[in-house]
Amino acid sequence: MTATTGHDIPARAAGTEPIIEIAHLTRRFTSRRSETVALDDVSLSVRPGEFVTIAGPSGCGKSTLLKVVAGLTRATEGDVRLYGKPVTGPQREIGFAFQRSALLEWRGVRKNILLQAEMRGMDRRRAEERADHLIALTGLTGFERALPHELSGGMQQRVALCRALLHEPRVLLMDEPFGALDALTREQMNIEMNRIWRETGTTVVLVTHSVPEAVYLGSRIVVMSPRPGRIVETLEPGLPDRREYGPTLADPRFTAAAERLRDLLGASHAPE
Ligand SMILES: Nc1ncnc2c1ncn2[C@@H]1O[C@H](COP(=O)(O)OP(=O)(O)OP(=O)(O)O)[C@@H](O)[C@H]1O
Ligand SMILES: [Mg+2]
Repeated sequence: MTATTGHDIPARAAGTEPIIEIAHLTRRFTSRRSETVALDDVSLSVRPGEFVTIAGPSGCGKSTLLKVVAGLTRATEGDVRLYGKPVTGPQREIGFAFQRSALLEWRGVRKNILLQAEMRGMDRRRAEERADHLIALTGLTGFERALPHELSGGMQQRVALCRALLHEPRVLLMDEPFGALDALTREQMNIEMNRIWRETGTTVVLVTHSVPEAVYLGSRIVVMSPRPGRIVETLEPGLPDRREYGPTLADPRFTAAAERLRDLLGASHAPE
C-alpha cells in the first residue's frame, strides 16, 4: 500500500480546498439517566471528487457523523464545515441516501425520483430530463412507471440513489445503502456506484460494514474504533478510479488493504 491517492482524473488534483472539513468533532448524547459519547475528537477533511468510505463496529458513531455533516444533528464540540461554511442546520445542497430506500409505495419510479424536485421547487422540465438521464444511467429504463413493490431490492436502491442525485449535489452522503441487499446484487450496485462516481464527479462519503465494499469503492478508507468513535487509521490503497470488479479484488493493493481493514475491525471486536 502506498500513500498516493490513485486519482487518475486531473480535475481531482490534490491541492483543492476540502469540500467537507471536520475538526475535533465530539458528539455526546445526554439524558437524565446516562451520557453516551458517540464521537470523540474526530477530524477528517474530504477533498472534491474523493470517495471516502467509513468502516467501524456497530454503535461507533458512523451514522451520527453523517448526520452532523448533513446538519441533522449538532456537534457538541468541534467545527464542521461544508463547502467552506459552518454547518448550523439542515443542509440542502447535499444528497443523502439512507439504509432503507424509503420510497413512496403509491408512486412509480419516475415520480419517486421527481419527489426531490417537488420538495426543492426545481424547474420541472430540467428535473424530468435529469430524472430520465439517471434512470438510463442506473439501468432502470423500462421501469419508469413501476411501483416500488414491483421492483427488486437492488432496483429500489437504485431509485433511491437517483432521487439522492437528482439535484446534482456536489456531495453525496450514504449510510449503509446496500446493507439489505444479497451479495450478488450488492456487488452489482458497487460496480454501478463506482461508475456513477466517475461519471458525475460527485464527492461521496459512504458508511459500510462490508470490507470488500469499503475497499472496492473508497479512494480513502477511514476506520473507526468502537464507541466512543475515533478514527484509528486511514487506508489509501492507491487503486485507480476505474475498477473492474474481478481484477480489482485480485489486485495486491486491494488484498493488502482488505486484510488490514479486517485486522483493524477484528481487533476492535476482541475481548478486553
Ligand atoms: N438521538 C440519539 N439519542 C441518544 N443516543 C443516540 C442518538 N443517536 C445515536 N445515539 C447513540 O450514539 C451511538 C452511536 O450511534 P450511531 O447510530 O451513530 O452508530 P453507528 O456507528 O451508525 O452504528 P450502526 O453500525 O449500528 O449503524 C450509539 O451508542 C447510539 O445509541
Ligand atoms: Mg448507523
